[in-house]
Amino acid sequence: MYIIRHFQAKDTFPVIHLASNVLTEHYDPSLFSYLYETNPWCFFVCEFQGKIIGFAIGIQFQEKTGRVLMIGVEKVFRRKGIAKSLLQQLHIEFQQKDFTKIELEVKTTNYGAIQFYQKHQYKIVEKVHHFYQNGEDAYIMELQVQYH
Ligand SMILES: CC(C)(COP(=O)(O)OP(=O)(O)OC[C@H]1O[C@@H](n2cnc3c(N)ncnc32)[C@H](O)[C@@H]1OP(=O)(O)O)[C@@H](O)C(=O)NCCC(=O)NCCS
Repeated sequence: MYIIRHFQAKDTFPVIHLASNVLTEHYDPSLFSYLYETNPWCFFVCEFQGKIIGFAIGIQFQEKTGRVLMIGVEKVFRRKGIAKSLLQQLHIEFQQKDFTKIELEVKTTNYGAIQFYQKHQYKIVEKVHHFYQNGEDAYIMELQVQYH
């Protein structure tokens, strides 16, 4: 049974470890504590049998725009809907803030993540050349939020 919950201070090292295993970009470990301190409302983890196996971080990007900053799931737990559950939590937080748009960037070579976001109605709106540290290109993907 997986538990999706807000990040807590005790999750700092497990999340740093997981991020370094699953993300291709290297992030300074202090970034995670910084994001927790400044942005606790939109930092989630997935726990399974006491172990952190996924995480997702969203931020406010502009007045009415949210940004999916990072999302990652441990390899052996993929394709089970964990990222979907994490993304849904980010969407709930974004909707509570009445954001009308959600953006993110993803490597143009990251086929799995692009498929994942497209499955959740994100559209590619722009390609940014040399976006990443290693010179790789990024797609900017966007979801327009509909309120009924
Ligand atoms: C992208 C990622 C977060 C998806 O996590 P996940 O828990 O496997 O995703 P879910 O199970 O919720 O969704 C799976 C769906 O996403 C898409 N998908 C995910 N990985 C895929 C892959 N390798 N190839 C094709 N489609 C893929 C498919 O639509 C899939 O549905 P299906 O299994 O029915 O075909 C995960 O692969 C990951 O951690 N990747 C490394 C980190 C990363 O790239 N993060 C995104 C950029 S920050």
